[in-house]
Amino acid sequence: PSITYVHPNGDEQVIEVVPGTSVMRAAVTNGVDGIVGECGGQAMCATCHVYVRDEFLAALAPMNDDEEEMLEETAAPRDEERSRLGCQLKMGSRLESIVVDLPSMQV
Ligand code: FES
Repeated sequence: PSITYVHPNGDEQVIEVVPGTSVMRAAVTNGVDGIVGECGGQAMCATCHVYVRDEFLAALAPMNDDEEEMLEETAAPRDEERSRLGCQLKMGSRLESIVVDLPSMQV
């Protein structure tokens, strides 16, 4: 699977990952600026906030209550449709690729 991160200035970074890798983990491991992942992926910090491009929304697993709550705490404004926590987005067969826009701030 591949993850494309689009920075606020338009720069794109594409990272190839193994199935099961989250959008947060791939960014942290590969030094992608703009995702912090402070809580390590527990849906408890909201510093892995991303805006998912529309065409990938249908392939995402639904949000659980923890994610729903944490998205109220994001540093950059939440988008009702597109905001998700990167740590809750796992790449795999249903999600072979994804493009996410990085928010202007995470803390
Ligand atoms: Fe903390 Fe995603 S890493 S909520």
